[in-house]
Amino acid sequence: MPNVLTVSGSPSSRSRTSSLVRHVGALLAAENHDVRHVAVRDLPAEALLAGDASHPAIREVIETIEWADALVVGTPVYKAAYSGLLKTLLDLLPQFALAGKTVLPLATGGSTAHVLAIDYALRPVLTSLGTDNVLRGWFVLDRHVSTEAEGAGAVAAEAADGVAETASRLIDSLAASEGPRVAASRRGLARAV
Ligand SMILES: Cc1cc2nc3c(=O)[nH]c(=O)nc-3n(C[C@H](O)[C@H](O)[C@H](O)COP(=O)(O)O)c2cc1C
Repeated sequence: MPNVLTVSGSPSSRSRTSSLVRHVGALLAAENHDVRHVAVRDLPAEALLAGDASHPAIREVIETIEWADALVVGTPVYKAAYSGLLKTLLDLLPQFALAGKTVLPLATGGSTAHVLAIDYALRPVLTSLGTDNVLRGWFVLDRHVSTEAEGAGAVAAEAADGVAETASRLIDSLAASEGPRVAASRRGLARAV
């Protein structure tokens, strides 16, 4: 089954973004996806701020990205864009770290005024990291996400259907790319022998 890395780019200790990302991770795990999670706030600040990609913790994230078939990248909307914390990690990744990956962007925010931040701010950066498959993202109002409950119950009824459909789109996209992935790995195998 596909491997998925969920990433939370929020600096908050009680983070709605993290709850949302974890909730989507739980939906994927329930469909037998192998899910790992990284919260950028838990990575060493000195490595993020000094751009130290050789730090063991950053190297581990890069290896987990290599392991992943897909990433769910969540950010709070800050000043009409994604968080600076998320950018500190993205800036440390190899130039084409997301090549061949499916990426689902998610955002939480206080107002729908900035719902497009996913598309005008985050999407171009993800694309620049080499992926051809950034799915249509999803924005959830902060008041519709709880920090009390992780997984089921984190997302209020008003937002639950949209989030579930968004997770389903990722599942469908990964299932659709399974055939070409297997074919590509067979081609690699054929070249190797
Ligand atoms: C510094 C800062 C800037 C923010 N800027 C915006 C903004 O421009 N647009 C918006 O809709 N919400 C904005 N918000 C609200 C957050 O995006 C929202 O509360 C989000 O869910 C917080 O996620 P978190 O709990 O993961 O930190 C801002 C919050 C902070 C703390």
